[in-house]
Amino acid sequence: MNDLAREEVTMPTAEHSEADAETGPETGINTAGTAVTRAVVRGAGHYLPERVVPNAEFAARLDTSDEWIVSRSGIERRHFAAPGESTSHMAIKAAEMALGNAGISPDSLDAIIVATSTPDLTFPSVATMVQAGLGMTRGFAFDIQAVCAGFVYALAQAQALIVAGSARRVMVIGAETFSRILDWEDRTTCVLFGDGAGAVILEAQPGGGTTGDRGILSSDLNADGRQRDILYVDGGVATTGHAGCLRMQGKEVFRHAVEKLAATARNALDRAGLAPGDIDWVVPHQANLRIIRATAQKLGVPMERMVTTVADHGNTSAASIPLALSVAVSRGQIRPGDLLLLEAIGGGLAWGAVVLRW
Ligand code: ACO
Repeated sequence: MNDLAREEVTMPTAEHSEADAETGPETGINTAGTAVTRAVVRGAGHYLPERVVPNAEFAARLDTSDEWIVSRSGIERRHFAAPGESTSHMAIKAAEMALGNAGISPDSLDAIIVATSTPDLTFPSVATMVQAGLGMTRGFAFDIQAVCAGFVYALAQAQALIVAGSARRVMVIGAETFSRILDWEDRTTCVLFGDGAGAVILEAQPGGGTTGDRGILSSDLNADGRQRDILYVDGGVATTGHAGCLRMQGKEVFRHAVEKLAATARNALDRAGLAPGDIDWVVPHQANLRIIRATAQKLGVPMERMVTTVADHGNTSAASIPLALSVAVSRGQIRPGDLLLLEAIGGGLAWGAVVLRW
């Protein structure tokens, strides 16, 4: 059990009567006699741009092949944003689906957090663009940049806001347009990434302080800035003045990924007082099927319990976990009450894991 889960907090109620009325029958039951506030998933949504690009399109103009891409990464196709379509557009679509899924209105949200490394503009944040796009006139909104670990970082921040009583409902979005930072001549990177967005709505609900509670049960966040050269973008506002292109030492990233993902997953599970065998679904960052397989093996979790969408989406960075979550819900894989482990690593390096009961 983590410290946050043990903390006693007063549920905000007075100024949220509309939201409370929508909470419905899923409100947690305090069986242990210790009131805790949980950040519970209320709805999920996703958006993928219309254009699907199969591996064959790369093979037609680069020294690569469908066989190489599939065997090294598990990626078969990815979606690319249309000209004029940006990160905020995709984030708004995912957010609208999540609101529809939850059956709530935009103005019942207290905050929007968008995890992205590919914002529309240097500022304002994508989150404020989503706020305006949804027609939301209250609350606060900001972006988080932790590259592929961004969604896991954002979930942990949203949980902290909810447990502290600073927000009651938080929309957490991962949205990326990585196609705008790829070097199309570099076959070692451009075949691996895609565009898209995913969103979840977290809501404060009372829990019993046990691992049977719905909501976020624990998190584990890490960073090691000494590893910046193995995965970075070679441009930026304060250096080149241009966005730049993604650069990666694939083998080095791979090596760090498997070791660190297994370790952060174990840390998060330990904090919740759980073991890998308790998990119904691992929803890993969708970078590479070989990394997903190797992490599953290290954790002792069978592949049937790993949610995988990498074949269809490629690596969508901060969007990959919420996309996989929402798609798995649509597929009927993830159901209310399932215990999930989310884990991700990306540039920084930054990595982390979240344990939550759906
Ligand atoms: N098509 C054909 N050949 C290729 C391609 C390609 N697209 N890309 C590289 N090759 C060649 C290389 O040039 C190399 O040739 P050489 O032996 O003549 O030098 C050969 O294939 C093997 O290359 P490796 O880099 O050793 O291949 P590896 O098996 O390591 O696979 C890969 C490369 C897929 C990038 C792998 O290392 C990997 O997945 N790493 C992790 C990447 C990752 O997860 N990144 C994202 C995490 S963080 C984030 O999401 C931002």
